[in-house]
Amino acid sequence: MNKPIIAPSLLSANFLDLRADLETINRSEADWLHIDIMDGVFVPNISFGFPVLKYVAELSTKPLDVHLMIVQPEKFINEVKGLGTMMMNVHYETCTHLHRVVQQIKDAGMKAGVTLNPATPVCVLKDIVADLDMVLLMSVNPGFGGQKFIPQTLNKLKELRELVDATGSQALIEIDGGVNLETGKLLVDAGADALVAGNAVFKAPDMVEMIHQLKNL
Ligand code: DX5
Ligand code: ZN
Repeated sequence: MNKPIIAPSLLSANFLDLRADLETINRSEADWLHIDIMDGVFVPNISFGFPVLKYVAELSTKPLDVHLMIVQPEKFINEVKGLGTMMMNVHYETCTHLHRVVQQIKDAGMKAGVTLNPATPVCVLKDIVADLDMVLLMSVNPGFGGQKFIPQTLNKLKELRELVDATGSQALIEIDGGVNLETGKLLVDAGADALVAGNAVFKAPDMVEMIHQLKNL
Protein backbone atom coordinates (compact mmCIF):
# COMPACT_ATOMS: atom_id res chain seq x y z
CA MET A 1 0.00 0.00 0.00
CA ASN A 2 1.24 3.49 -0.84
CA LYS A 3 2.00 5.88 1.97
CA PRO A 4 -0.76 8.46 2.45
CA ILE A 5 -0.37 12.03 1.26
CA ILE A 6 -0.24 14.23 4.37
CA ALA A 7 -1.64 17.76 4.18
CA PRO A 8 -1.30 19.80 7.40
CA SER A 9 -4.11 22.34 7.70
CA LEU A 10 -2.87 25.89 8.24
CA LEU A 11 -6.08 26.76 10.10
CA SER A 12 -4.60 25.27 13.29
CA ALA A 13 -1.26 27.12 12.99
CA ASN A 14 -0.10 29.92 15.27
CA PHE A 15 -1.24 32.97 13.28
CA LEU A 16 1.14 35.21 15.21
CA ASP A 17 4.07 33.11 14.11
CA LEU A 18 3.07 31.71 10.76
CA ARG A 19 6.64 31.92 9.51
CA ALA A 20 7.91 29.52 12.17
CA ASP A 21 5.08 27.05 11.59
CA LEU A 22 5.53 27.19 7.81
CA GLU A 23 9.26 26.62 8.08
CA THR A 24 8.58 23.58 10.26
CA ILE A 25 6.14 22.21 7.68
CA ASN A 26 8.67 22.90 4.93
CA ARG A 27 11.29 20.71 6.57
CA SER A 28 8.81 17.93 7.44
CA GLU A 29 7.63 14.99 5.36
CA ALA A 30 4.31 16.76 4.66
CA ASP A 31 3.32 16.44 1.01
CA TRP A 32 0.96 19.39 0.67
CA LEU A 33 -0.13 22.45 2.65
CA HIS A 34 -3.92 22.52 3.17
CA ILE A 35 -5.46 26.00 3.19
CA ASP A 36 -9.03 26.62 4.37
CA ILE A 37 -10.73 29.71 3.00
CA MET A 38 -14.08 30.63 4.63
CA ASP A 39 -16.64 33.33 4.02
CA GLY A 40 -18.91 33.36 7.09
CA VAL A 41 -21.82 32.52 4.75
CA PHE A 42 -21.38 28.94 3.58
CA VAL A 43 -19.75 28.13 6.93
CA PRO A 44 -20.19 29.93 10.28
CA ASN A 45 -16.60 31.13 10.47
CA ILE A 46 -14.07 33.31 8.64
CA SER A 47 -10.44 32.24 8.37
CA PHE A 48 -7.96 34.16 6.22
CA GLY A 49 -8.02 35.81 2.82
CA PHE A 50 -5.76 36.41 -0.15
CA PRO A 51 -3.64 39.27 1.29
CA VAL A 52 -2.41 36.91 4.03
CA LEU A 53 -2.20 33.87 1.78
CA LYS A 54 0.03 35.71 -0.68
CA TYR A 55 2.80 35.64 1.93
CA VAL A 56 1.99 32.08 3.02
CA ALA A 57 2.30 30.94 -0.59
CA GLU A 58 5.65 32.69 -0.98
CA LEU A 59 7.09 30.95 2.06
CA SER A 60 5.64 27.46 1.56
CA THR A 61 7.71 24.96 -0.39
CA LYS A 62 4.82 22.47 -0.35
CA PRO A 63 2.16 22.35 -3.08
CA LEU A 64 -1.01 24.15 -2.00
CA ASP A 65 -4.22 22.19 -1.48
CA VAL A 66 -6.80 24.97 -1.25
CA HIS A 67 -10.22 24.20 0.28
CA LEU A 68 -12.80 26.87 -0.47
CA MET A 69 -15.69 26.98 1.98
CA ILE A 70 -17.34 29.90 0.23
CA VAL A 71 -20.40 30.53 -1.92
CA GLN A 72 -19.74 31.16 -5.62
CA PRO A 73 -16.16 29.82 -5.51
CA GLU A 74 -15.86 30.31 -9.27
CA LYS A 75 -15.51 34.05 -8.65
CA PHE A 76 -12.12 33.43 -7.06
CA ILE A 77 -10.50 31.02 -9.52
CA ASN A 78 -8.00 33.66 -10.67
CA GLU A 79 -7.04 34.63 -7.11
CA VAL A 80 -6.57 30.99 -6.14
CA LYS A 81 -4.51 30.40 -9.25
CA GLY A 82 -2.47 33.51 -8.40
CA LEU A 83 -1.25 31.82 -5.21
CA GLY A 84 0.37 29.12 -7.32
CA THR A 85 -2.22 26.60 -6.14
CA MET A 86 -1.83 22.97 -7.17
CA MET A 87 -5.33 21.71 -6.16
CA MET A 88 -8.47 23.84 -5.90
CA ASN A 89 -11.30 22.19 -3.95
CA VAL A 90 -14.84 23.52 -4.18
CA HIS A 91 -17.84 22.27 -2.26
CA TYR A 92 -20.50 20.33 -4.14
CA GLU A 93 -23.07 22.21 -2.03
CA THR A 94 -21.92 25.60 -3.35
CA CYS A 95 -21.93 24.84 -7.10
CA THR A 96 -25.17 24.67 -9.06
CA HIS A 97 -23.14 24.21 -12.24
CA LEU A 98 -20.47 21.96 -10.83
CA HIS A 99 -19.33 20.60 -14.18
CA ARG A 100 -18.68 24.13 -15.46
CA VAL A 101 -16.74 25.11 -12.34
CA VAL A 102 -14.57 21.98 -12.57
CA GLN A 103 -13.76 22.79 -16.20
CA GLN A 104 -12.95 26.40 -15.30
CA ILE A 105 -10.52 25.26 -12.59
CA LYS A 106 -8.80 22.91 -15.04
CA ASP A 107 -8.72 25.54 -17.77
CA ALA A 108 -6.93 27.81 -15.28
CA GLY A 109 -4.22 25.14 -15.02
CA MET A 110 -5.06 23.72 -11.58
CA LYS A 111 -6.17 20.29 -10.50
CA ALA A 112 -9.86 20.15 -9.56
CA GLY A 113 -11.24 18.70 -6.34
CA VAL A 114 -14.83 18.45 -5.17
CA THR A 115 -15.69 18.38 -1.48
CA LEU A 116 -18.72 16.74 0.15
CA ASN A 117 -20.22 17.77 3.48
CA PRO A 118 -20.92 14.94 5.96
CA ALA A 119 -24.62 14.72 5.01
CA THR A 120 -24.07 14.81 1.24
CA PRO A 121 -24.09 11.29 -0.22
CA VAL A 122 -21.29 9.94 -2.41
CA CYS A 123 -23.76 9.05 -5.21
CA VAL A 124 -24.13 12.72 -6.27
CA LEU A 125 -20.67 12.46 -7.83
CA LYS A 126 -21.46 9.51 -10.09
CA ASP A 127 -21.58 11.53 -13.31
CA ILE A 128 -18.59 13.75 -12.62
CA VAL A 129 -16.10 11.61 -10.72
CA ALA A 130 -14.25 10.64 -13.91
CA ASP A 131 -13.46 14.34 -14.49
CA LEU A 132 -12.08 14.98 -11.01
CA ASP A 133 -8.53 14.98 -9.72
CA MET A 134 -9.69 14.63 -6.13
CA VAL A 135 -12.73 14.07 -3.96
CA LEU A 136 -12.49 15.54 -0.47
CA LEU A 137 -14.78 13.99 2.11
CA MET A 138 -15.50 16.17 5.13
CA SER A 139 -15.37 14.08 8.28
CA VAL A 140 -16.59 17.01 10.39
CA ASN A 141 -18.96 19.84 9.59
CA PRO A 142 -16.75 22.43 7.87
CA GLY A 143 -15.80 25.67 9.56
CA PHE A 144 -13.61 24.81 12.52
CA GLY A 145 -10.53 22.83 13.43
CA GLY A 146 -10.36 20.52 16.42
CA GLN A 147 -13.72 18.79 15.98
CA LYS A 148 -14.48 15.12 16.53
CA PHE A 149 -14.30 12.72 13.60
CA ILE A 150 -17.73 11.53 12.32
CA PRO A 151 -17.51 7.70 12.13
CA GLN A 152 -20.00 7.40 9.23
CA THR A 153 -17.21 8.86 7.07
CA LEU A 154 -15.65 5.38 6.97
CA ASN A 155 -18.72 3.96 5.23
CA LYS A 156 -18.75 6.87 2.79
CA LEU A 157 -15.09 6.35 2.11
CA LYS A 158 -15.61 2.69 1.24
CA GLU A 159 -18.48 3.62 -1.07
CA LEU A 160 -16.40 6.34 -2.72
CA ARG A 161 -13.43 4.00 -3.12
CA GLU A 162 -15.71 1.58 -5.02
CA LEU A 163 -17.13 4.37 -7.19
CA VAL A 164 -13.68 5.73 -8.07
CA ASP A 165 -12.27 2.29 -8.86
CA ALA A 166 -15.37 1.18 -10.81
CA THR A 167 -15.35 4.26 -13.05
CA GLY A 168 -11.60 4.18 -13.67
CA SER A 169 -11.42 7.69 -12.26
CA GLN A 170 -7.94 8.99 -11.39
CA ALA A 171 -9.40 10.98 -8.48
CA LEU A 172 -7.52 10.86 -5.21
CA ILE A 173 -9.61 10.54 -2.05
CA GLU A 174 -8.79 13.00 0.71
CA ILE A 175 -10.35 13.16 4.19
CA ASP A 176 -10.62 16.34 6.25
CA GLY A 177 -11.60 16.74 9.90
CA GLY A 178 -10.71 15.05 13.15
CA VAL A 179 -7.83 13.11 11.62
CA ASN A 180 -5.28 11.85 14.13
CA LEU A 181 -3.12 8.73 14.43
CA GLU A 182 -6.12 6.61 15.42
CA THR A 183 -8.69 7.78 12.85
CA GLY A 184 -5.95 8.18 10.26
CA LYS A 185 -5.09 4.50 10.49
CA LEU A 186 -8.73 3.50 9.95
CA LEU A 187 -8.93 5.84 6.95
CA VAL A 188 -5.77 4.59 5.30
CA ASP A 189 -6.92 0.98 5.77
CA ALA A 190 -10.27 1.90 4.18
CA GLY A 191 -8.62 3.36 1.07
CA ALA A 192 -7.93 7.04 1.71
CA ASP A 193 -5.14 8.51 -0.41
CA ALA A 194 -4.66 11.78 1.43
CA LEU A 195 -5.22 12.99 4.99
CA VAL A 196 -5.70 16.58 6.14
CA ALA A 197 -4.60 17.16 9.73
CA GLY A 198 -4.96 20.44 11.61
CA ASN A 199 -4.92 20.11 15.37
CA ALA A 200 -3.19 16.72 15.29
CA VAL A 201 -0.16 18.35 13.66
CA PHE A 202 -0.07 21.93 14.92
CA LYS A 203 -0.89 21.13 18.55
CA ALA A 204 1.57 18.23 18.68
CA PRO A 205 4.66 18.67 20.86
CA ASP A 206 6.80 17.74 17.84
CA MET A 207 5.11 18.58 14.53
CA VAL A 208 7.76 16.98 12.36
CA GLU A 209 7.53 13.73 14.29
CA MET A 210 3.71 13.74 14.17
CA ILE A 211 3.79 14.20 10.39
CA HIS A 212 6.30 11.36 10.17
CA GLN A 213 3.96 9.12 12.15
CA LEU A 214 0.93 10.04 10.03
CA LYS A 215 2.98 9.36 6.92
CA ASN A 216 3.80 5.87 8.21
CA LEU A 217 0.40 4.76 9.53
C1 DX5 B 1 -12.54 22.47 8.73
C2 DX5 B 1 -11.35 22.49 7.83
C3 DX5 B 1 -10.27 21.55 8.19
C4 DX5 B 1 -9.69 21.77 9.57
C5 DX5 B 1 -9.27 20.43 10.08
O1 DX5 B 1 -13.55 23.19 8.15
O2 DX5 B 1 -11.74 22.17 6.50
O3 DX5 B 1 -9.24 21.54 7.21
O4 DX5 B 1 -8.61 22.65 9.59
O5 DX5 B 1 -8.83 20.55 11.38
P1 DX5 B 1 -8.69 19.29 12.34
O6 DX5 B 1 -7.71 18.35 11.70
O7 DX5 B 1 -8.19 19.89 13.62
O8 DX5 B 1 -10.05 18.66 12.47
ZN1 ZN C 1 -10.13 21.86 4.99
